[in-house]
Amino acid sequence: MSTTLRARRSCLAVPGSSQKFIDKARGLNSDQVFLDLEDACAPLAKPDARKTIVAALNEGGWGDKIRVVRVNDWTTEWTYRDVTEVVEGAGANLDAIMLPKVQTPEQVVALDLLMTQIEKSLGYEVGKIGIEAQIENALGLTNVNAIATASPRVETIIFGPADFMASINMKSLVVGEQPPGYDVGDAYHHILMSILMAARAHDKQAIDGPYLQIRDVEAFQKVAGRSAALGFDGKWVLHPGQIDAANETFSPAQADFDHAENILDAYEYFTSEAGGKKGSAMIGDEMIDEASRKMALVISGKGRAAGM
Ligand code: GLV
Ligand code: MG
Repeated sequence: MSTTLRARRSCLAVPGSSQKFIDKARGLNSDQVFLDLEDACAPLAKPDARKTIVAALNEGGWGDKIRVVRVNDWTTEWTYRDVTEVVEGAGANLDAIMLPKVQTPEQVVALDLLMTQIEKSLGYEVGKIGIEAQIENALGLTNVNAIATASPRVETIIFGPADFMASINMKSLVVGEQPPGYDVGDAYHHILMSILMAARAHDKQAIDGPYLQIRDVEAFQKVAGRSAALGFDGKWVLHPGQIDAANETFSPAQADFDHAENILDAYEYFTSEAGGKKGSAMIGDEMIDEASRKMALVISGKGRAAGM
């Protein structure tokens, strides 16, 4: 199955410089793991971390997890070495590269071209490795549609709240929480919706970023619940304690999944010859039509991707 369609309810961040956390991550039940060469990895640790990551990917043991490496952004001096070492060394065991702080579609194109060269030179299938684009500042957000369509490799658009809050001068130090003093709505609504619209318009997954108060699972659930309610596909997790909460929050409730399946069955019947070729019908007190079928397909699809 293409990684675009696979569930990414929980995307576990693991510092690429920590063998201990990498080993631990293998046994956790996140849908995705991403080994980080960017902000969780100190500048002096990056060269060794590239080697640790290549070895960890090639050693395997990642089960069904989507295997991703976050490289450094194009404004640094590290990106080309990150991509070259990781894709050359472990391209066969890698599902996607995550590119942080994407500001323009050209930055995605540059990554695509570099990956294509490496794939060609090693005889790999060109285009098999995807790109996950992180939106982390105002310019990235204004270009989000062009970024989503810059390469067919783009699979996900990810909100990076910490960098985003810093980049727009938001007066808050608690990542993902509402800025104190803003009491007229959700300060992230526009950003989340813009990312979600770009993702849905172009058939990508929309992923919410980290929540840093890692011991407060209830608060994580609340913040995750907001993006899940809008239609996001998943969220980063920074700690094993957040994984089950993310998997649950981004899966439909069992009752909703069952109801969606009932709607689909009913729709198939009442639109058929035997069912009277009707355009709409009642299930209990609820009228079902083609639009209801589409809504049911979303819940059913999310549930099936999550193994329900
Ligand atoms: C993640 O990279 C963030 O900046 O929130
Ligand atoms: Mg960031």
